[in-house]
Amino acid sequence: MSELVMKAEKLDASDELAAKRAEFVLDDVVYLDGNSLGALPVAVPGRVEDVVRRQWGELRIRSWTEGGWWTAPERIGDRIAPLVGAAAGQIVVGDSTSVNVFKALVGAVRLARPTDDGGPGRDEIVVDATTFPTDGYIAGSAARMTGCTLRPVPPAEIPDALGGRTAAVLLNHVDYRTGRLHDLPSLTAAVHAAGAYVVWDLCHSAGALPVGLDEHGVDLAVGCTYKYLNGGPGSPAFLYVRADLQDRFDSPLPGWNSHAEPFGMRPGYEPAAGAVRGRVGTPDILSMLALEAALEVWDGVTIDAVRAKSLALTDFFLECVEEYVPGGRVACVTPRAHGERGSQVALRCPDAGDVMKRLIERGVVGDFRHPDVLRFGFTPLYVGFADVERAARVLAEVLA
Ligand SMILES: Cc1ncc(COP(=O)(O)O)c(C=O)c1O
Repeated sequence: MSELVMKAEKLDASDELAAKRAEFVLDDVVYLDGNSLGALPVAVPGRVEDVVRRQWGELRIRSWTEGGWWTAPERIGDRIAPLVGAAAGQIVVGDSTSVNVFKALVGAVRLARPTDDGGPGRDEIVVDATTFPTDGYIAGSAARMTGCTLRPVPPAEIPDALGGRTAAVLLNHVDYRTGRLHDLPSLTAAVHAAGAYVVWDLCHSAGALPVGLDEHGVDLAVGCTYKYLNGGPGSPAFLYVRADLQDRFDSPLPGWNSHAEPFGMRPGYEPAAGAVRGRVGTPDILSMLALEAALEVWDGVTIDAVRAKSLALTDFFLECVEEYVPGGRVACVTPRAHGERGSQVALRCPDAGDVMKRLIERGVVGDFRHPDVLRFGFTPLYVGFADVERAARVLAEVLA
């Protein structure tokens, strides 16, 4: 038995999260794509069956009130809150991440320019130049709508780019391509020092590492629930609006679900108090309640334990890749420093698309990101150290 196989066995034996794997539907594939679509929690199919057959099929309309459907967006938001370091009452679940980026970013510009008269003053939106594309597209539209200029800036240069013209800044906590973790506390402080508002996209950090939204005074944040929160394909996203900003949060999508009195059916809009103000229309109950069942895997789990295992998994993967893969064949683009690493490892390699295809054929599932990146996501709730060793070994075989 090789030294790395023995090391994997030892690490698995002392893994306090190891038992969590049994709460997911998995097979003998090494699944390293939970940063794209999280695996299916065992509890979900039965819950969805109940929601469809009993709650919808038998209780019908009564489920909106008696079954708790109407309040699901804020109830499930409160379940996600501790995972991202937020107190209750600041998160609602619903819509896609893209839609929530729009709500949050336009809302942030309106916070920065309360009169919205388009006059001189804060007329710039700064966006992470390396952002996931949807954020950049939406920021462009938000800028046109609010009469702002869009300024793409690499995250490291953002503090120097801020000033009296900055209204809002949209940043990714973890870079989807490289797995680089950006410094949320210091970037948030820099945005505040410039008098602007920050929106963080937590898609690649929610459920993977501590975020500390309240602790670091983040203004607004969005995130998806289908990656490390395992909510299922297209499960609804979440929106965080810090408690003391909620009264001034002016959503650009003021639907009837965010009205102070939705069933008053009034012609005039009056926003609800609290996180509910971030809602828009009728929630997607089937996806929403599948997510609620999926979140039960977090019972008894702390995000700190998840982070500790995530770093151990990615450290071990890098060690195995170095040991097994012939030198020069791949280049790691994920930072080595723990403080700069999310829960994925990205390796650059010239024929990455073909390499990933062959890895998947051999039972190691990661993904390929244009033009030359192999991405491996490590979900601590169900990935073990033996999986990691096997993935690196198979990668070396494919590259040989
Ligand atoms: C960082 C980031 N932001 C936004 C999105 C897109 O979100 P949605 O498709 O839920 O609108 C993704 C999707 O993977 C993402 O990784």
